[in-house]
Amino acid sequence: TYIIAEPCVDVLDKACVEECPVDCIYEGDRMLYIQPDECVDCGACEPVCPVEAIFYEDDVPDEWEPYVSANADFFDDLGSPGGASKVGKTEADPAFIKGLPPMNE
Ligand code: F3S
Ligand code: F3S
Repeated sequence: TYIIAEPCVDVLDKACVEECPVDCIYEGDRMLYIQPDECVDCGACEPVCPVEAIFYEDDVPDEWEPYVSANADFFDDLGSPGGASKVGKTEADPAFIKGLPPMNE
């Protein structure tokens, strides 16, 4: 799967959402998250992010390793809805992301 990491926090550009052929990039309060079971590893989202927040899971920089589990944990209650557009924004951000200081100031 692909992973969204910290540079997305408080940016939420959503250029990635337009590219994903399976609509598996879901919106939280602070950032967006890729549903690991729905992502088909096409790679289309990665180059379009203006802040380079998206990585293949094996290429996530060490400093952002917690985001690998964060992308999965976001879906603990949501599960695998099969499409982000019908779900909309969900404030299920993992606790450590909710607690991050504002990144857009
Ligand atoms: Fe975030 Fe980049 Fe997508 S900022 S919403 S990962 S285009
Ligand atoms: Fe979607 Fe492909 Fe990225 S399935 S999340 S655009 S790797």
